[in-house]
Amino acid sequence: MNSEVLTVVAPGKLMLFGEHAVIYGHPCIVSALDKYIEIKGKIIDERDDKFDIADYSDSFIRRMISVFRRKYGKKEKIFISSKSTLGRYGLGSSAAISVATVKMLGKLFNIPLSKKKLFNISYEGVLKVQKGKASGFDLASSIYGGTILFDGKTKKTVYLSKGKLPFLTVFTGRKSKTVDMVKKVAQEKLKNPKMTEKILSEIGKIALRAERALKEKKWEVVGKLMNDNQKLLVGLGVSNGVIDKLVKISLDSGGLGAKISGAGGGDCIIVLTDRIATDKIKTNIEKAGGIVLDINVGIGEGVKAI
Ligand code: PMV
Repeated sequence: MNSEVLTVVAPGKLMLFGEHAVIYGHPCIVSALDKYIEIKGKIIDERDDKFDIADYSDSFIRRMISVFRRKYGKKEKIFISSKSTLGRYGLGSSAAISVATVKMLGKLFNIPLSKKKLFNISYEGVLKVQKGKASGFDLASSIYGGTILFDGKTKKTVYLSKGKLPFLTVFTGRKSKTVDMVKKVAQEKLKNPKMTEKILSEIGKIALRAERALKEKKWEVVGKLMNDNQKLLVGLGVSNGVIDKLVKISLDSGGLGAKISGAGGGDCIIVLTDRIATDKIKTNIEKAGGIVLDINVGIGEGVKAI
């Protein structure tokens, strides 16, 4: 057991390809960001756990602690505080805090946790908080860092790159709830099973094609695949007027591709840029009410104790 105060950092994420389809067992591509959650933790001699968590609910932390305690038979109480540079843009703060908490618990109790174990424990916790509706892609991103291909069925992760990718991240100005959007797709699937399944499997195929194009740095191809993916997301009903407008402006201003990143209905879109068009895209997006975030995509490092 470790009686010192320990620090763990875990990155946020952005979905590049495959949202929604990954819940139904298809592959997706996700990048870690250079924005992090940092937590500090300590074993305390108190009756209850104590938290000092700035800007979001502690339900994920509590759940991670309870899954870990049960698994390893630990009873000691924990203090955890957190700070974040992720903001409230839907960039994966719950996943990052979940992964960071499990990593912290392993360190506090001197229990070595492989990446796979970290994933399994944090995924068990997240499934409980979100009532079974989560693929775990965001946990894998926070654990592994870089850009990864994540398989929705096997939960296996493969690294694609660890370098910076030329995406702009744009906050649409609207918050959205992932759970609501996931429910929307599930309802659509009940109403129109054939069509929805076809869309989901097309999205999965696009993710595999994008894996290759990203590895080969064929940006024109990556952009086209983003646009194809976005059309399919529109077909699933998870886009809206604000997103459609920002996507169009991005493409009209020289973007190679633009699409929702994540569940849709708000939060962020991503735009693939070349160096020449970047300033024009940024200016036009901001004129239209989008907020270009100061974020580097693909260079986030996986969770670590510092
Ligand atoms: O809204 P986000 O960034 O949490 O992304 C959700 C992606 C989904 O595929 C819709 C959900 C999931 O758990 O994979």
